[in-house]
Amino acid sequence: MSNTANTPNASGGAFDGHKKLERNVTLLAALTLGVVAIGGIVEIAPLFWVDNTIEKVEGMRPYTPLEQAGRDIYVREGCYTCHSQMIRPFRDEVERYGHYSLAAESIYDHPFQWGSKRTGPDLARVGGRYSDAWHVQHLKSPRSVVPESIMPNYSFLSQTALKVPDPAASLAALRAVGVPYSDADLAAAANDLEAQANPEADAGDLAARYPKAQIRDFDGDPGRVTEMDALVAYLQMLGTLVDVNSAAAQEELSKGAQGR
Ligand code: HEC
Repeated sequence: MSNTANTPNASGGAFDGHKKLERNVTLLAALTLGVVAIGGIVEIAPLFWVDNTIEKVEGMRPYTPLEQAGRDIYVREGCYTCHSQMIRPFRDEVERYGHYSLAAESIYDHPFQWGSKRTGPDLARVGGRYSDAWHVQHLKSPRSVVPESIMPNYSFLSQTALKVPDPAASLAALRAVGVPYSDADLAAAANDLEAQANPEADAGDLAARYPKAQIRDFDGDPGRVTEMDALVAYLQMLGTLVDVNSAAAQEELSKGAQGR
């Protein structure tokens, strides 16, 4: 009874059509391609009409030359092999690390530092969680502050003077891939790099061009700008630019407005 639809003669013409289709490989392939293409077009075509697939979020700005230099050190030293920068929207992650990461928060990351490999904790919101002195001590000798840590020592960072061959060129390269650095940012790049970590230097309008930029000596050695200054400046900035609660609220509101 329940199987009548599948018995040969019951479904008539439609069944014959399907039989033909299943036995003719070329026809089956052509029609399969057609059906899959419709699905593909429906998903891909809209991406050509929207300006940006990432919603902009208030507060996100390009990194200062010092933060960017710190980020380059972070990548050079392979910190990403043990640390991710992407808090997923799960309760355990949100309770441990804070609000889940928004796509817009990595909009200026080239390359991004997401990832799923966590030997150490996620660092997306580590900014402001510890003092500069804690970071310096921890990077020099992790086990001196966290006895069970397996993180390597990076003490050489505080002995190595920060060298960025051409700060303006680094920003120009990022601008070429879409990071909106202004001409003023490029012109001031070399001075910004030095002045953000040197309280003696004249920072000019650094704070106006880079809102929430933290301008101070980071490594406890005000006499010179080291790789430690750059890396700590970068870590202390992570997750501090966007007011996530209001940004998320905006996101929810805009979804509501679209009728979702
Ligand atoms: C071999 C894996 C490994 C590498 C490589 C590594 N870390 Fe870690 N990191 C850890 C582990 C494990 C912890 C947790 C224990 C601790 O605090 O030391 C940690 C903790 C941290 C913390 C404290 C985070 C928190 O919320 O308590 C920071 C900041 C940090 N690492 C930064 C870095 C930076 C910057 C680099 C690159 C210079 C780096 N790590 C490289 C394994 C690593």
